[in-house]
Amino acid sequence: MKLIIISNRLPVKATKIKSTFRFTRSEGGLTTGLDSLEIDMERHWIGWPGVDTDIPEEQALIEKQLKKKNLHPVFLSNKDIEEYYEGYSNSKIWPMCHYFFSLIQHQATHWESYKKVNRLFAEAAAKIIEPGDMVWVQDYQLMLLPKMLRDLNSQISIGYFHHIPFPSYELFRVLPERSELLSGILGADLIAFHTYEYMRHFISATERVLDLNFELDEVRLKDRIVRVDAFPMGINFDTYYNSILNPKVSRIAHKLQKDYKDHKIILSVDRLDYSKGILHRLKGFSQFLENHPEFWNKVSLFMIIVPSRDNVESYSDLKTKIDETIGSINGIYSNMNWTPVHYFYHGFSFEELCAMYYVADVALVTPLRDGMNLVAKEYIAAKRDNPGVLILSEMAGASIELIDSLIINPNDSTEIEDAIVTALQMPLDEKVERMQWMQKRVSSQTVNKWAATFIKELLSIRDKNQSLYSRFLSKDVEREIKIKYNSSSERLILLDYDGTLSPFKPKPEDAVPTQEIIDTLNLLASDSRNKVIISSGRDHNTLEKWLGSLNIGLAAEHGAFYKEAGVWNKNSGPVKWDDEIMSILQQYVEKTPRSSLEVKETALVWHYRKVDAWLASMRVQQLIGALITPCTREHLQIMRGNKIIEIKHPDFTKGSEVNRLLNGRSYDFILAMGDDVTDEDMFLSLPESAYSIKIGTFSEYARYNLLSQTETLSFLRRLAEE
Ligand code: UDP
Ligand code: G6P
Repeated sequence: MKLIIISNRLPVKATKIKSTFRFTRSEGGLTTGLDSLEIDMERHWIGWPGVDTDIPEEQALIEKQLKKKNLHPVFLSNKDIEEYYEGYSNSKIWPMCHYFFSLIQHQATHWESYKKVNRLFAEAAAKIIEPGDMVWVQDYQLMLLPKMLRDLNSQISIGYFHHIPFPSYELFRVLPERSELLSGILGADLIAFHTYEYMRHFISATERVLDLNFELDEVRLKDRIVRVDAFPMGINFDTYYNSILNPKVSRIAHKLQKDYKDHKIILSVDRLDYSKGILHRLKGFSQFLENHPEFWNKVSLFMIIVPSRDNVESYSDLKTKIDETIGSINGIYSNMNWTPVHYFYHGFSFEELCAMYYVADVALVTPLRDGMNLVAKEYIAAKRDNPGVLILSEMAGASIELIDSLIINPNDSTEIEDAIVTALQMPLDEKVERMQWMQKRVSSQTVNKWAATFIKELLSIRDKNQSLYSRFLSKDVEREIKIKYNSSSERLILLDYDGTLSPFKPKPEDAVPTQEIIDTLNLLASDSRNKVIISSGRDHNTLEKWLGSLNIGLAAEHGAFYKEAGVWNKNSGPVKWDDEIMSILQQYVEKTPRSSLEVKETALVWHYRKVDAWLASMRVQQLIGALITPCTREHLQIMRGNKIIEIKHPDFTKGSEVNRLLNGRSYDFILAMGDDVTDEDMFLSLPESAYSIKIGTFSEYARYNLLSQTETLSFLRRLAEE
């Protein structure tokens, strides 16, 4: 089994130098973090090598050089970079996920390109993927890829990690492509985020957009279960903690300490990005200088900005504003011996960066939104035993873990100003104590642990799915059922109606039987060896109207009524509904838009199929809570079904109907099919030799599972036909 990581960018980027290529490390938390992963598996990485060349010889050269390290380049054309990378990925998904609504650009060509490039990645992956492999797709540039890979090869485990925030549904819903994106991600078996908040937003968007229902952290799709979880990404702690022992790092650090010995250094490190709050930070720093002249000549801000996405207009505009703001601060405050802001607009090597982390008295990390922010964690680790203070935005995913930092709201420049003062004046023992707590956390939640936990969970969900697959109604099982059917002479065939023979309709009264349903039932009923029963929760009038003319048995309201030899019988006496129960239900209909109440002779049903998922889950719990006392008093059962809550007499269930049918009769072939919770009673009451088949989701008591309701009728026809 191989681990195949797929991300937009490879951990190295190629730069053309004369006729050859030089490879340097890519910046950005995703690649720096994942590249430091030490894992006991054959690891491959597919991604863009950061260079734009369409010359086949050059591409071959890059490919050859990278192959030695199991890196597999995907080459993007200028147009791809413009439309997929700068366009859809970074002018639409990025601003949306970081809550920069006004920067979102909608362009149809960008979406087309996004789809095309995701396909390119799928094709590249198909070349190296083998059955049993584990594929780990990274980040928002490749949201369609999990599904594309799943369609190409169902024998692999697919994980997806979203490295940036996932926004609230209220924002996500603005994307016209929202359902394709979510379906794309759902191709994965395990979907993960840095924090539970992003996970919560994803679940809420998926439920609303795709009309799926999560049970806690899992959702059951047609053919498998998908799990969602939060795993905060870490860093390779030891690499940063020990970096000062590296002679090159310590040389740079000592030089810095010597050059700035009378100065306090505040450090900020970011890619050029509006989400990083760089202008807000400069405003806070400028305000600090203005209000605290006692720190003039004593404190400098070292601002490292790594160029990023500079062809995107919002990024180049930001660069201009940063240049102007820094120019203005330095223009006002600097003198012959002091420059308040030292500005670097280029990437630093690992050694330079670690030296800067080590000497910096304060790290100022103030993103307006950030999925995680690894710089904050790297600073903590690289400090080793040289105390410093971390000022951290509450909008960074890292703030959930690094609670011993000085947490600020980056939108408030006074909070930044005050935090700088607090950090500069913090007593040594407090600095040491805070740093030790944070080092403890960062050293235990490393990138290795992060990946190991992710992979372990991916394997567990794979095992769970495999055990479910073993119950799928395969061709072999179908053949066995058919042989048994053909050789039997007394057959009982029990069929649920809604969700089994007929698909669910938004309005229950619209689920009128189609000609195909009628024909299939007639085909089954035409064989004198078959006793066909429709066992439903529907009221008997509806069943009579829809199916009464057929030569089959009917059981309505979960066995409270049954029709045999053309005559309806009722198992229970008349029910008078308790006033309190009726008034509770009516109250819930009124306060839950799109819900309705069905009053049957022996049961009351509150339907919430069309209700918003969040509201429904709250109302279901409230309603059950409100009904418990009156229903206990009246000896009534409260039952949860497929988007319904049903209140009924406990004596009659689909199980009691099975018992009635089996009483004194013997059958040499029994088949039961159903999709809902109430059908479990039917499955449970059947003898072991019966063929019980659950439709759609998996069942505790049914022997087999048929993936979709759409397959029921064809299965029954194949069984009945000669
Ligand atoms: N980084 C780097 N060279 C630099 C500046 C930053 O390699 O000159 C790295 C830094 O060490 C960190 C990553 O870039 O690992 C930035 O990750 P972060 O999660 O903070 O932000 P992102 O760029 O992913 O939004
Ligand atoms: C963030 C994103 C990554 C991206 C990185 C650098 O960390 O989550 O997916 O690779 O920024 O951005 P770039 O556009 O240069 O790859």
